[in-house]
Amino acid sequence: MPKAEPFPLPHELYPGEWFRRLDREEIFPGDSPVELDLGCGDGSFLARMGAELTDVRFLGVERLLGRVRKVSRKASQGGLQNVKILRADSNYAVNWLLPEKCFRRIHFLCPDPWPKKKHARRRQMCQLPFLQALHGLLEKNGELLFKTDSRDYYEEAVETQEECDFFKEEPWEKDAFFYPKTDFEEQWLAEGRTMHGLRLRKI
Ligand SMILES: C[S@@+](CC[C@H](N)C(=O)[O-])C[C@H]1O[C@@H](n2cnc3c(N)ncnc32)[C@H](O)[C@@H]1O
Repeated sequence: MPKAEPFPLPHELYPGEWFRRLDREEIFPGDSPVELDLGCGDGSFLARMGAELTDVRFLGVERLLGRVRKVSRKASQGGLQNVKILRADSNYAVNWLLPEKCFRRIHFLCPDPWPKKKHARRRQMCQLPFLQALHGLLEKNGELLFKTDSRDYYEEAVETQEECDFFKEEPWEKDAFFYPKTDFEEQWLAEGRTMHGLRLRKI
């Protein structure tokens, strides 16, 4: 008989309630800075950040169970007590579940590029209500870091940001700070694609 999977998985954040915003304490007790990785995929970025920045807490949000399992496994194997994973839709999590003014940084890395014109409106970084919601989750002076291989998506995200008066763009020089590559980024760079990054500071 196959071994039963534990529920919740190791390192999984499973809220007791889904219809109110969580308190910061329910995610990570204590005063350490907390960062959020939206659509974290298999979690290599989360695991690398967690291993390097041991005084920071990291929460990944991912909707696919197979990927959530991989994040759980990576966090367990690495003994990363500062990494947790929430299986949820990121729109729901951002708008209804996650605590406001909680996160020092939000990472939104290599989201689905939605290359077809008819799907372009699904690009979350190009929607002011989504940006407004992320702004609400960030602490004072918090940062939103976005990366994509789609030039189109990047340019549209820059245009959207220019329309809003609650984020300002900051330079993001290579190697300005520790920032490991994600699984998709590694794959896309190996295929010869170019990455575009946008670093926004909460006003
Ligand atoms: C292209 S992958 C990038 C994964 C990871 N950030 C990386 O760079 O390796 C996009 C990820 O976002 C997840 N995703 C897409 N839409 C989502 C949503 N609405 N809520 C939660 N996760 C989502 C997908 O399941 C997938 O794992």
